[in-house]
Amino acid sequence: MMTLFVTLVFICFGLNGVQALNTVSHVAMDFGGTVEIPCQYEENYLDNVKYLCKGSSWGSCKMLFSDKINSAKYSIEDDKVERIITFTIKNLEWSDSEYYWCNIERPGKDYGRQFRLSVTNKGESKLSVDSQLITGYFDDQITIKCKYNGSGLMKWCRVGGDCRTSGKMNGAQVSTNRSVTGVFSVTMSGLTEQNIGWYWFDFGGLQMPVFLEVTERPTTTPTESTSFFSSNQPETTSYIYAAAIALGLLTLIVIVSLLTWFMLKRKVKTTVVEDPASLECAENPVYSNVPRPMLHQV
Ligand SMILES: *[C@@H]1O[C@H](CO)[C@@H](O)[C@H](O)[C@H]1NC(C)=O
Ligand SMILES: *[C@@H]1O[C@H](CO)[C@@H](O)[C@H](O)[C@H]1NC(C)=O
Repeated sequence: MMTLFVTLVFICFGLNGVQALNTVSHVAMDFGGTVEIPCQYEENYLDNVKYLCKGSSWGSCKMLFSDKINSAKYSIEDDKVERIITFTIKNLEWSDSEYYWCNIERPGKDYGRQFRLSVTNKGESKLSVDSQLITGYFDDQITIKCKYNGSGLMKWCRVGGDCRTSGKMNGAQVSTNRSVTGVFSVTMSGLTEQNIGWYWFDFGGLQMPVFLEVTERPTTTPTESTSFFSSNQPETTSYIYAAAIALGLLTLIVIVSLLTWFMLKRKVKTTVVEDPASLECAENPVYSNVPRPMLHQV
């Protein structure tokens, strides 16, 4: 009997792809925000279609989008090196609070793994970060802060890897600090390419996924000569734009001042000119704007 039960459990979970897929169990995000949810898969499924569906039971799950269909609200990205699919849901509404399934299409029965998304009032989530995208620099350190409400064990985990609160994580040194109430900070030092990827904070049954990007530190304050000629740098372009705008404004000011000066000068002269001249002008509207007083002067 026990063996049968174990076998049944094994079959059920096997069908739902517990081994094949690994994702969050529950994420809470602010109303109106954007959420990104990673889902890792086994390497046997690199080329299979991945999709997301919505619904508490797998049988009645409503297909939302796959790596073949993207929309303004939903999108999916498949990182075949890390074997992680990232689902993005934008502009969160109350109706987005639901159970979802991360799925892999395959012959026979597809694999699916369930997770839950809760949409909360702004700032009311029990676990939150300012941004799900964190950028650090090579050989440098980065501190990632996560706000929490309540008490309990807090974990920092690499998606598809280990959880750590100290020691090494893919070569980087990890340390954590909870001295500020309601804030858990993780510092990772000695960042390398190995540390690029998805992580999550885990607290009180909720997870908050965070993508850590590690790049070269941008060179600060480029010299005049290089900044002016390497036009494909965005910063440079903005300098040029700023200079062009300043020059344009200056030109405009000069023109306006000159015009004003001319008008004032003209006005002074017009008043000097006798009335009959002005009457003559009024009879011919076409020329009424021509600086008539000048003609009188000649
Ligand atoms: C924590 O959650 C409780 C309700 O569960 C709420 O009353 C309280 O304001 C929250 N605290 C913070 C700092 O968000
Ligand atoms: C934890 O953070 C606080 C405040 O940022 C700091 O004063 C303290 O030294 C840190 N503790 C450790 C062990 O790093």
